[in-house]
Amino acid sequence: MADPGAVAEAVAERLLQERRASCPRPLGLATGRTMVPVYGALRRQFDRFNAPDQQAIRQGWLSFNLDEYVGLGPTDPRSFAAFMADQLQGPLGLAPAQVQLPDGLAADPLQEAGRYRAALVGAGGIGLQLLGLGSNGHVGFNEPPCGPEAPCRCLALSAATRAQNAPAFGGDAGAVPLQAITLGLAEILAAERILLVVTGAAKASMLRRALLEPPCPEVPASWLQHHPRLEVLVDGPAATALPQER
Ligand code: GLP
Repeated sequence: MADPGAVAEAVAERLLQERRASCPRPLGLATGRTMVPVYGALRRQFDRFNAPDQQAIRQGWLSFNLDEYVGLGPTDPRSFAAFMADQLQGPLGLAPAQVQLPDGLAADPLQEAGRYRAALVGAGGIGLQLLGLGSNGHVGFNEPPCGPEAPCRCLALSAATRAQNAPAFGGDAGAVPLQAITLGLAEILAAERILLVVTGAAKASMLRRALLEPPCPEVPASWLQHHPRLEVLVDGPAATALPQER
């Protein structure tokens, strides 16, 4: 696709289609800069539905985010909970409980990871999982090295990831939390469908490794190749290292 705007419109269509299907399983949602235009497109498309359709989408909504920083709660604007409240939950008029995230303020993050996994399993597991790509090949916060059976857990963030996410922390990588709770590759690969969204030239070579080289722990996103229903949506710059856009 030509640009991030076109990618975002296509992703938003798929997310809303999934929510409008009969008895959908929960959506799996992601944060990050790649997703800002996606949620913008989703809000615009939502606004174009008539009131009864909007109400039907609202009533049935249940989503589980991939991850959250340990130590940040919803009142901290740098938390993923605050990002989702701003981008999705507030504008669509959803109740906070309809947009689930791990609790970054839980007293015991290990226990919180177990609770979050159990809540997801109890809700039927993910139907459609939205994913971005970390510049070091992570998905969610599954940092390399990471195998395909890694479960939902609390883990240390790599220096590369803390540097990548520094812009949300005033440009200071040292201010990025040291740990996060993330769904594992196990829960991600258990989703019915996966939508990997990658934009920008900076991710082109990692995208190539993820899609075209043999799966390996050094590129956690490469395990997605094993999923039978993986769809990859990319813009032109992200696709430059691929043999053809896919
Ligand atoms: C973050 C998130 C991922 C996200 C990725 C890419 O750290 N944990 O879920 O997809 O890194 O982020 P961005 O879209 O800002 O490049």
